[in-house]
Amino acid sequence: MKFVMSDTPLAIIILAAGMGTRMKSDKPKVLHEVAGKPMINWVLDSALKLKPQKIITVIGPDMPALKKAVAPHETVIQKDRNGTGGAVKCALNALKDFKGDVVILLGDCPLITSKTLKGLIKARSEDLLTELSVLSMELEEPKGYGRLITNKDGYVTAIIEEKDAKAKEKAINLVNAGAFCVNSEKLSSWIGKIDSDNAQNEYYLTDIVKIASKEGVNCASFVCKTPSELKGCNSRADLAEIESIFQDNTRNSFMAAGVTMLEPNSVHFHHDTKIAQDCIIEPNVFFGPAVKLEKGVHIKAYSYLEDCIIRSEATIGPFARIRPGTDIGSDARIGNFVEIKKSKIGKGSKIGHLAYVGDTIMGEDVNFSAGAITVNYDGFQKHQTIIGKNVMVGSNVNLVAPVAIDDGAFIAAGSTITEDVPADALSIARDVAEVRQGWAAKYRKLKAAALAKKKRSKAS
Ligand code: UD1
Ligand code: CA
Repeated sequence: MKFVMSDTPLAIIILAAGMGTRMKSDKPKVLHEVAGKPMINWVLDSALKLKPQKIITVIGPDMPALKKAVAPHETVIQKDRNGTGGAVKCALNALKDFKGDVVILLGDCPLITSKTLKGLIKARSEDLLTELSVLSMELEEPKGYGRLITNKDGYVTAIIEEKDAKAKEKAINLVNAGAFCVNSEKLSSWIGKIDSDNAQNEYYLTDIVKIASKEGVNCASFVCKTPSELKGCNSRADLAEIESIFQDNTRNSFMAAGVTMLEPNSVHFHHDTKIAQDCIIEPNVFFGPAVKLEKGVHIKAYSYLEDCIIRSEATIGPFARIRPGTDIGSDARIGNFVEIKKSKIGKGSKIGHLAYVGDTIMGEDVNFSAGAITVNYDGFQKHQTIIGKNVMVGSNVNLVAPVAIDDGAFIAAGSTITEDVPADALSIARDVAEVRQGWAAKYRKLKAAALAKKKRSKAS
């Protein structure tokens, strides 16, 4: 379905002043994150796609972090948290000079898409008498949501909140998903008429429907066919459910785009994870912020990646940790128990096992053996290691930064390197082994004799 945007000017109000008491948290509810992005920013991003003239977020007093999260967009403060209707009233001042459609969104409904909102906006202008539309969904278990009362023509005549609903109303499956599109002038007039005569003594935004209906104005219901995107967050359990909806959708879209996942449910994505075609993701992989996998990358089980780019055909893991600021070249092989931080690894290089590479620029086709590490921190500052191409770093090497190893050099196993190494040289920095012929045999004989003597004296 494709919607043509109407020419009516658009403003958006996002309600986010609620205390979110059911979250049991010191931070405002809408700052809790889904896939690493605060809920309010999910809503804001969908709102921005509608290209509105203005976005006003209603916040509570003492919510500077929330104000910052929506900046540079405007915020208004709702001092008295007296309900969603009261919240919209606070925003109206900032919309005094605006004429057009106002879309009202809930800050705690993060997965709502701009496509759905376009449907809601279109439903508002359905016919001349439709001055508002409500976003709705049909739920098998409607508990907790406002129920929609409709007339024989399918228009909504009232919304009844769960706490005010009688048994018969509670049985209605068509519910208020929380978004409205309203003509701005009508909105001001209706908001002024709301009272708080209900079970929660709150000013319900949802009452504008009843008021409109009494004035003979039609309220259209735009039924969203994908209710999972409209899941509202009132508790930590809801937050976990929303997270899992996002994760499921993301898994499905990556698979549809040609990514193989051996056990999709065990892979966790960030909202901005990018994975190209023909990548293979083994079980139990975690993607932190800003990870990009180019084509054909293979991430083996139990790997943890953050803020990095893995170039085509590279292999990571199992049990690898790729930390922020890392760029792994094409065809590189990063194996088990390897940690890489803020480093660039050249094409085809191999860091196969048990290694730490930090603040390093490594060329192509380097072999960085087991137990080798860069010593990048002196207790005060970080220092850089530069490794050319075709370098062979032996096992258990310490490269004490700042240090540079030029192309083709060999670093002997067990060396602690504190000086730069020229191209094609061998650097060896360890004690020469002393070999004592026959020592072990003599030692064993002496030990055995001593033990036998001890045993004899015990027996006597
Ligand atoms: C609301 C709707 C309900 C709908 C449901 C969908 C009302 C009266 N009820 O219920 O019909 O089915 O959402 O998820 O509108 N807020 C303020 N100021 C306030 C109170 C709330 O800004 O004084 C904000 C909250 O921060 C939140 C949003 O409004 O982001 C919704 O408030 P909430 O208390 O969660 O409403 P619900 O009970 O979920
Ligand atoms: Ca809610």
